[in-house]
Amino acid sequence: MENFEPEIIAFCCHYCAYTAADMAGSKRLSYPTNVKIIRVPCTGKVDALHIMSAFEKGADGVYVAGCLEGDCHFKNGNTRAAQRVAHVQKILQDLGWDTQRLAMMNMSAGMGEVFARTACEFTEKIKQLGPSPVKQMNTDSYRQTQR
Ligand code: FES
Repeated sequence: MENFEPEIIAFCCHYCAYTAADMAGSKRLSYPTNVKIIRVPCTGKVDALHIMSAFEKGADGVYVAGCLEGDCHFKNGNTRAAQRVAHVQKILQDLGWDTQRLAMMNMSAGMGEVFARTACEFTEKIKQLGPSPVKQMNTDSYRQTQR
């Protein structure tokens, strides 16, 4: 996939990953514009349906970025999020998807560099995987209607 530019959704906790993204911006650290951030009060608020909905609406990759282990402002929201991510990865695997399209990450508010590097690495990984199966399916359906 030469010119493939993936669409990536990052559910970022307000207290850590979102602030880290802000810090990356303040430090003028660049990260791919492919990554669209959705700020959530805590990653514990991210439901499996939110993740599946992002894929259904065209995301090629999704990650949930929460506070470091033990640092969640709502006690165990990030632990619950990690469990949900693992659950959805299992569903994706059952569907025949590469589970690397979905990831859980942890970082503190001061980790601007980590946020930027993670966004770059995840984007590269999704570029290598190519468009999501949903997009490929839609493209195939479109081609069939054009025959
Ligand atoms: Fe950041 Fe819960 S407050 S993950």
